[in-house]
Amino acid sequence: MVQLRYEHLFQLKNYGVPRVRFESEAAKLPRFLELIRGRGQGFYDLPDDTRGVAEILEYAHKVRGKFDHIVVLGIGGSALGVSCLMQALKHPFWNVLPKRARKHPQLFVLDNIDPSVIAQLEETISYKKTLFIVATKSGTTPETMGQYYYFRAKMEREAGKIVAKKHFVFVTDAVRGVLRGIAAKDGIPCFMIPDNVGGRFSVLSPVGLLPAALLGIDIKKLLGGARAMRDVFFEKRFVRNIPFQLAAIQYVLQQERDVTMTVMMPYASAFSGLADWYCQLLAESIGKSETRGGKKVSIGLTPIKALGVTDQHSQVQLYTEGPRDKFILFLEVAALYKKQLVIPSAAVSDPSMAYLKGVTFQELMSVEKRATEQALFEYGRPTATLSVPRIDEEVLGELFMLFEGSIAFLGEFYDINAFDQPGVELGKIYTKKMLS
Ligand code: PA5
Repeated sequence: MVQLRYEHLFQLKNYGVPRVRFESEAAKLPRFLELIRGRGQGFYDLPDDTRGVAEILEYAHKVRGKFDHIVVLGIGGSALGVSCLMQALKHPFWNVLPKRARKHPQLFVLDNIDPSVIAQLEETISYKKTLFIVATKSGTTPETMGQYYYFRAKMEREAGKIVAKKHFVFVTDAVRGVLRGIAAKDGIPCFMIPDNVGGRFSVLSPVGLLPAALLGIDIKKLLGGARAMRDVFFEKRFVRNIPFQLAAIQYVLQQERDVTMTVMMPYASAFSGLADWYCQLLAESIGKSETRGGKKVSIGLTPIKALGVTDQHSQVQLYTEGPRDKFILFLEVAALYKKQLVIPSAAVSDPSMAYLKGVTFQELMSVEKRATEQALFEYGRPTATLSVPRIDEEVLGELFMLFEGSIAFLGEFYDINAFDQPGVELGKIYTKKMLS
């Protein structure tokens, strides 16, 4: 299972986490758990939806072999989880692999309305071999609905009105929005996002599960991992509750040391999408201007994405010597690849590079992570490490639940609603007004 190490934080005298304060925060855990249970949120129930899983698998079976391309139309929480799943669990060059190697369709996540990308996507796909998944919780988001109307019209021109309907599937709220009505009228399959699951908490709903199943990802294992972490999330014992520990670290660092940014730095390219997904989760959930009691505040933890080792040569200088406002959360993987790739000793001819002889890339990556951690420690910068044994469905399910749980706890620490996004909604309202 995922582990969290943060002993370093107590050793950083003036810059780390004061142990006494941390322990006093730990006492809040049982009360926070009660509060969270009372909030009626549904993200932690998603792994139990066996009927939903069966419906998704049945649909995936039905359309197997019919499409060469899947295009997800969605934005924010309706897109980032899908990209994350694909990057973590499929080949890094999935879309350019030959069809016989993939055995499943290509997948494109169209999470922007940049016309150049839309046009160039059209040059890449064949309409007659494309399935469009339209994912929107509200069923009214202008970007997603604009894309939907555009592609529906195009598909009707390419394939004819009757056949076009077979090239769409919807993922949306049970009643709200306009997609439900279209689905009912046109007989388009429609999967449900439960009312009490917000966009950025929806990756384990059909939003993530449907595209994942169409790519051949084992969604039962994904949910199994999430279930295991849910047990940890509901643990009353502080020493076992990793989501709570993570939230407590972020909270205490902000309160005691004015550390207002969290750098999510996985040492695995496959987790690059996970870092993007986490950035949205933290930013939208915790950036708030009002407490639950209506008091005006200015709260937020700014997320930053960094990728090990790449960003050692880009951002780490700032993290070691720049402002003391960042907490770096490393994510390391014990086994990145099934085979060991070795730098052949005989090929290293320069004596000054002899330390690379016979070193595997896994070793080099892990040593570089430790070296960066050590450098940050010497500069008095707070870091912690999440360790996972490998990258697979179970581990990813655990990580999704861990981060979502930690966000729920952060909401309690700050006494804010971590599950709404009034700032985003206001932008949607103005878009509508300005176009009306
Ligand atoms: O987390 C959220 O609620 C948002 O980021 C939404 O996911 C995003 O705005 C897209 O909304 P919708 O899924 O309703 O189209």
